[in-house]
Amino acid sequence: MSENVFRSPRKRGRIAVFLSGRGSNFMAIHEAIEAGEINADVALVFSNKKEAPGFLFARDRGLETLYLRPKSFPDRESYDQEIAREIEAREIDLIVLAGYMRILTAPFCERFLLRIINIHPALLPSFPGLHVQQKAIDWGVRFSGATVHFVIPEVDMGPIILQAVVPVLQDDTEESLSARILKEEHKIYPEAVKLFFEGRVEVRGRKVFILD
Ligand code: GAR
Repeated sequence: MSENVFRSPRKRGRIAVFLSGRGSNFMAIHEAIEAGEINADVALVFSNKKEAPGFLFARDRGLETLYLRPKSFPDRESYDQEIAREIEAREIDLIVLAGYMRILTAPFCERFLLRIINIHPALLPSFPGLHVQQKAIDWGVRFSGATVHFVIPEVDMGPIILQAVVPVLQDDTEESLSARILKEEHKIYPEAVKLFFEGRVEVRGRKVFILD
């Protein structure tokens, strides 16, 4: 990762949301935009799953949606190249991964470096990957949480923008802990997008500074 200083733009942004499922984080961001709290518009909702509830929600609200069928492409690189073309055609400022369950290829991550963010239901760099709420319980950690971070080719390892801490209780199940973490996700993800388009996110190397 370069040591150059990056500062997020202060403007009305055009975001593309990528999702594969329920879409509750997307809905939280959409709600914050509707409430005038975020200086951005959802210019595209993209999915690799045509029946994803979050995707149907977007379509029902008349937002622009795009579904690409993974099986119609020979490999992940060509799939991501097609997405990249669609993103560039729409002059997207920020790609917001909201439960997008496909790993983006390195060329895609590099093409949109510091223009892709993700939310993860653990305190990174602990517990990257999948089923991380159960992994936190099994490990016996006292605290877990949620992380919003920039996306780099190394999965779940990009510069951290915001985190929220959630206690892990002795009788927690995967469901109960996931629900408690999700509540925090719905706060910090809209907040991160808001800060981004207020021009308040500065990245130096792998550290992110939130400007006053
Ligand atoms: C969220 O908990 C999000 O943090 C997680 O998937 C869920 C999506 O929920 N993402 C990852 O695990 C990414 N590695 P949603 O579709 O209701 O926003």
